[in-house]
Amino acid sequence: MVFAAVFAGGIGSRMGNSDTPKQYLELGTKPVIVHTIEKFFVNDKIDEIIVLCPKAWVAHTQDLVKKHLPEGKKITVIAGGASRNGTLENAIDFIEKNYETNEETVIVTHDAVRPFLTHRIIEENVAAALEYGACDTVIPATDTIVESQNGEMISTIPDRSKMYQGQTPQSFRLKELARVLSSLTEDEKAILTDACKIFSIKNKDVFMVQGEVFNIKITYPYDLKVAHTLLGTAD
Ligand code: CTP
Repeated sequence: MVFAAVFAGGIGSRMGNSDTPKQYLELGTKPVIVHTIEKFFVNDKIDEIIVLCPKAWVAHTQDLVKKHLPEGKKITVIAGGASRNGTLENAIDFIEKNYETNEETVIVTHDAVRPFLTHRIIEENVAAALEYGACDTVIPATDTIVESQNGEMISTIPDRSKMYQGQTPQSFRLKELARVLSSLTEDEKAILTDACKIFSIKNKDVFMVQGEVFNIKITYPYDLKVAHTLLGTAD
């Protein structure tokens, strides 16, 4: 069985303004999060969808699902965690408590605020998770990446041809992911905030699925403007 876990548990502090987390802002005719859920809803590789959002937004998110998505695929809305890893753990716990899982069970985790993912990306994630156990979605770095240890002086400039930018989805065989997460100490959990990084630190293969430049994450108000343009609804 393949689950999509849509991560919407953040508050969007870098968007600056409002009481409304960025995943609920309007993009064209519907909120950002609805665009994202729809991509998984219509993809036949995905069996069920779990949406994880702030506790105070669960009822609102359920209303959005009812309003915008037809019947046909189960969508469950639950509370996310205090951190992104907490949200990931809630997704795994929910699946393990409510479903029969096996080594073939896959979880495709995706940021609610990346509404432009494609069906190719979803399908390649599912295939790569099954084949390799874990995958990340990446694009080649376009800018040169500069590393600085102290924030003032350059320490190194890695070879750009070997640098990639991470996007989402990140997808895993669920049981393997649960095993790797439970092997971490609380201190490790606090530092290791990226599930693919956890895999690679534990010397496990993480396959790279090719992302898209337009699979942007809405982080700042500027990104929402870009998103409107990508959607063709710029005003
Ligand atoms: N996310 C989550 N649970 C958290 C924190 C983040 O599910 N506890 C989700 C966000 O809702 C978002 C995705 O992870 O869809 C990517 O995170 P980011 O862009 O950092 O979102 P926020 O944490 O909301 O933003 P900010 O860091 O500006 O507060």
